[in-house]
Amino acid sequence: MNTANHNLNSKPIGFFDSGVGGLSVYARFKDILPSENTLYFGDTIHLPYGNKSKNELISFARSILNFYKTKDVKAVVIACNTSSAQAYETVKDEYEFKIYPIIQPCTQIIASGGAKRIGVFATEATVKSGVYTKELLKHNHTLLIKEIACPNWVNIVESGKYKNDASADDIKQHLTEMSEFRPEKIILGCTHYPYLMNILSKFADKELFIDPAEIFVKYIKEDLKKSQLLNTNGIKGDEEIFVSSCPESFKEHSKIFYNVKNVTLCKI
Ligand code: DGL
Repeated sequence: MNTANHNLNSKPIGFFDSGVGGLSVYARFKDILPSENTLYFGDTIHLPYGNKSKNELISFARSILNFYKTKDVKAVVIACNTSSAQAYETVKDEYEFKIYPIIQPCTQIIASGGAKRIGVFATEATVKSGVYTKELLKHNHTLLIKEIACPNWVNIVESGKYKNDASADDIKQHLTEMSEFRPEKIILGCTHYPYLMNILSKFADKELFIDPAEIFVKYIKEDLKKSQLLNTNGIKGDEEIFVSSCPESFKEHSKIFYNVKNVTLCKI
């Protein structure tokens, strides 16, 4: 018997990140679950998250989750590794809707993927939290893990400096440092980094990199299904995209991943 509650199922799912990065997750989600009604919040006024303190990141997450509470969401996807690393544990039980952080479910799957030496590129705050190493080892204690912070990469994406020589040099330098560890796989542990795949793949085999977005979206789909929260009405879902500053720049720099049509400026 299908006991799904159709009013609940048609409620929106909220996504958030500091900027355009989370669209790398959002775009896949829209492909895989086109009937879901969705909201996206890019907290561009606080960008980048990677150099913020734990308390600041908890406060940003609470503001966005409170905003989503007013939107009557059925779930929120933290499409941001930094917030998943620094804020999720603190806020996870404060709301009635489901909250999906990107790191915790993805590491469980990656830990059993066969690679023994795993590199992680992430923001300073994510690396400082040690959550990637902790979560990977929780699921497979034989792994060898090296995390490297890439403090300039979010700015390269948000300012569209892909063709700049300094950007390529910065990326190459971090890859050189990582290659000394001889990783079998490298997790792109910040949702902005898949935007840099064209540059990364100039210096290393594309197959080396794991963009957790795909694993994450499959996990969310299965969990929504298990919880009978999937919207199965077969009608294309609505969407609304919000940013806390600079809507035009957001629209411009999101193009690689998603065709953002309307962006609403929303100061929460
Ligand atoms: N894209 C986010 C992440 O996955 C935040 C990056 C930032 O704003 O520093 O960590």
